[in-house]
Amino acid sequence: MRMRKLVVLGISGSPRKGNSQFLLDKALEAARNADPDGVECVSYSIRGKKIGPCMSCFRCGEQEGECVIKDGFQELRDLWLKADVILYSIPVYHMGIPGQMKCFIDRLGNSLFGRYQGIFEPGEGKLPKLLKVVGNIVQGVHLCAGQEHTLTNLINHSLIMQCIPVTGDMWHSYIGGGGWTSNDIDPKALENQLAKNNYDASIAVKSAQDIGKRATELALLVRAGGYSRKRELSQDPIYKPFLDRIR
Ligand SMILES: Cc1cc2nc3c(=O)[nH]c(=O)nc-3n(C[C@H](O)[C@H](O)[C@H](O)COP(=O)(O)O)c2cc1C
Repeated sequence: MRMRKLVVLGISGSPRKGNSQFLLDKALEAARNADPDGVECVSYSIRGKKIGPCMSCFRCGEQEGECVIKDGFQELRDLWLKADVILYSIPVYHMGIPGQMKCFIDRLGNSLFGRYQGIFEPGEGKLPKLLKVVGNIVQGVHLCAGQEHTLTNLINHSLIMQCIPVTGDMWHSYIGGGGWTSNDIDPKALENQLAKNNYDASIAVKSAQDIGKRATELALLVRAGGYSRKRELSQDPIYKPFLDRIR
């Protein structure tokens, strides 16, 4: 049987074309190389997009997960739902996730309860096991200035979304990829530093590449496992969106 290509969605969480995009491109290249004929890479940036905050109206719970705010959210949500792998590449803002990305994550989380409530018994309030593999890359201008907090936020988001957070290889990637720009706010800081063989920039790039490669490999394994256990898993509605996706 011919399988559809694995979809790897890279999301740059910066409002500019800068270091996040640079590391994301490295991660996507590594993802593609993990299975050149079997992987389709999609690159998305929040640059120029408007994604407003959740208004806490809970109307998404009443209308099959549709958010009443019509803005850039829907486009990114649709890409996110289709993907097998999500690679987030995000700048640290105030030791955490930039506002635009936090708005997306808040709205995604709440609206998916409404979207999938029809597959469960009324009132169960569950989320399906989406089993997407999520790799996270985070960089900031300073050292020890929120990178691990931001990675932890993204890992928590992956877990809440019933996905599988993955890291790269030791010792470059403990809980994710990225690093710092050695106190340089230039959007091309890491690219310029890498060109001069800067050690820290090379580690940031290596960790981003590892994340892209390992996330894709794990997603291939998860998909193969899904195929081999399809009959058993299909008995439980919690796996329905996953099985629909790997069909
Ligand atoms: C509003 C704002 C808050 C920031 N907060 C932090 C921070 O807490 N820690 C840090 O290391 N860098 C911080 N930075 C710097 C960016 O993370 C850094 O310049 C990064 O390289 C930008 O990535 P980009 O080139 O992809 O936009 C902040 C930048 C902005 C604009």
